Amino acid sequence: MKGRFHPKNNLTVNPSKNESIRDVIDRVSLSRRRFIMTAVGTSVLTVLGDVSIGGFLQSVEAAPIPKGTGFGGIGFKSIPPNLLNPATGNLEKDLVSVPEGYTAKVLVAWGDPIMPGAPTWLADASQNAAAQEMQYGMHVDGMHYFPLSPGNVVGRTVSSQARSLRSFVNQDINNGLLCVNHEYTQDSILHGSEGLSPVTIAKVRKSQAAHGVSVVQITKSGNEWTFNRNSSYGRRITGNTEMRVSGPAAGSDLLKSKKFNITSEGSSEIGTNDGYTAYGTLNNCANGYTPWGTYLTCEENWNGYFGHNGEALVSTPGIPDSEIVAGQNRYGLSAGGFGYRWHEADPRFNYRTNPLEPHLFGWVVEINPYEPGSKPVKRTALGRFKHESAQVVVDDNNRVAFYMGDDERNEYIYKFVCTQSLNPGNPAANRDLLDTGVLYVAKFNANGTGQWLPLVYGQNGLTPENGFRNQAEVLVKTRQAADRVGATMMDRPEWTAVRPRIGGYKEIEVYCTLTNNTRRGTNPPSSNNPNGTTTAGGARPPIDAANPRPDNRYGHIIRWREDGRSVAATTFRWDIFFEAGDKTRPEANLKGNINGDDMSSPDGLWFDDFGRLWVQTDHAGDGVGDLANIGSNTMSCADPNTKQVRLFLTSPTDCEVTGITTTPDGKAMFVNIQHPGDGGTTQNPTLRSHWPYSQGYGLPGRPRSATVVITRNDGGVIGGL
Ligand code: FEO
Ligand code: CA
Ligand code: CA
Repeated sequence: MKGRFHPKNNLTVNPSKNESIRDVIDRVSLSRRRFIMTAVGTSVLTVLGDVSIGGFLQSVEAAPIPKGTGFGGIGFKSIPPNLLNPATGNLEKDLVSVPEGYTAKVLVAWGDPIMPGAPTWLADASQNAAAQEMQYGMHVDGMHYFPLSPGNVVGRTVSSQARSLRSFVNQDINNGLLCVNHEYTQDSILHGSEGLSPVTIAKVRKSQAAHGVSVVQITKSGNEWTFNRNSSYGRRITGNTEMRVSGPAAGSDLLKSKKFNITSEGSSEIGTNDGYTAYGTLNNCANGYTPWGTYLTCEENWNGYFGHNGEALVSTPGIPDSEIVAGQNRYGLSAGGFGYRWHEADPRFNYRTNPLEPHLFGWVVEINPYEPGSKPVKRTALGRFKHESAQVVVDDNNRVAFYMGDDERNEYIYKFVCTQSLNPGNPAANRDLLDTGVLYVAKFNANGTGQWLPLVYGQNGLTPENGFRNQAEVLVKTRQAADRVGATMMDRPEWTAVRPRIGGYKEIEVYCTLTNNTRRGTNPPSSNNPNGTTTAGGARPPIDAANPRPDNRYGHIIRWREDGRSVAATTFRWDIFFEAGDKTRPEANLKGNINGDDMSSPDGLWFDDFGRLWVQTDHAGDGVGDLANIGSNTMSCADPNTKQVRLFLTSPTDCEVTGITTTPDGKAMFVNIQHPGDGGTTQNPTLRSHWPYSQGYGLPGRPRSATVVITRNDGGVIGGL
């Protein structure tokens, strides 16, 4: 989420401050340095084909990238970037574009009806919260495809690195459920002609209803994918849906916030929550899934929904006010939040008068899409932070781990290792695997090794004298616990992705996007404070081996291999997969030699079942200034062996490309387009974009976040040879 309405994420890039290509060469490894030094010339680049190292050396050929170990090859030709048209001030194309031989169509968009009785979307955005609760939510993000079968057998729920566990038998790959996150709302577009002001409970409820998760049934008939507007699986989980809290923090006094009767008229206080109940999931960014057939949705910038109106902090018995305030600072709560203004009409989101309510957000939430009546579960064992994604690995001993990033500047990378092994033949036996295990945080050493540091009460200083009275408190204060044990501050960890162990590739290899960090290496240096008093994102760490660029405006991708090929390993080896960059810089002397494979701010990250790494980006997406030759946000495909990168998808003005999944056969890919044209205003919603109407979908009137389905005209596997 880096839309215009979230200033902390805005990316204003000034090329003059970037390091030179020489700086880059000076700090890459010797072997890579030799390669770059021999590859700088245009003719050499041409001979090598498309090569991307550090994002600076780019594609000049469109020949297929051949197969390799654990890699199925890349068959499509790069497409050009979607650049600024100076005459209009917008991008050249208000479209999703994909390579020759592929088709991209809009499948389902914000406001579409996804369950029986839901009203059709109205382009004036005059519909209320009750309508929105039955319609596709706003600002789509992470998602996963769950196939249905005649018996509704659990579908493609094990990732490809555990391919042997997966069975497609009797499963209808052309009829499935998409679980889709709705990260946030753009209130200037959501609320019709009046906009957000004045704030009313009706508007707050509509915004809450546009958040959360959709379960939407989709079907292929002939060559067309459509969504089912009357599906009995159709479901909305919103910012107010009742949920169960489980795991070590469940029942903790820290979770006993004020209880409200939540109605369309308002939120009236009716007592105290029991610590086992929560209401709503918010800022659902990236995602995961489990081998037992459930969806994981991850709560990222939930702090932005809280605020206060100048009230005094209401004290919590047994907890000093200073500790509450330190925690609120460490997680970035502020009086105005991110401008949603919910606290003005809904007292549940006032963190001064209801100071424990923020403790009910920042978790990974598990949803069973196959049981529409099931209650979502907040799994506290996986820690509380600004969760980006949670990607599962099952190792050869059926041990299970989930890899997770905390997306804020200078935050950490985590993994959760389940105590119980997976029971592959019995999904019900795995139902509560996420409640018991060890949460670790990563420390990256300069020599290419790393350690997983356990966040366990009583160990490594996580003791009462340091503010950790039990494991529940370690988990509610995950960030402070990670500060205490000495984790490595990273350049905004976004998605994790797990390389499939196929075709002779046996390593447990996990990748993570580090989208950018403009505070890295800036002055005066400072670190996250182990006493928990550091304001979120406020530190200025020096560069280190894992985060080597000062003022890292373009981001990079890091990867690691677990020692012993075990998810339970406490040590690993790591390297930087690539650094994203800007080919326009004169000192790189690459202008004219580049074939559109550049990128900035990698965010979404996903391996398909054939070992292709898909990288989605999230920058301003306006093609202005430093983005002049990058243009819109993009999705590229990378070879994990050779690091070659090829541009596959460009997007409309101002949007983020995020969320990716495929059918189990790999022949239909789903990609989310978030906040198209978010420079539009209440008075002129389409100032910046008419998408998806511009792509032939729906009504004109205002831009809409939407899910796109991509197919290959010859019926082949997306991205393949
Ligand atoms: Fe919602 Fe970190 O992206
Ligand atoms: Ca994002
Ligand atoms: Ca993201």
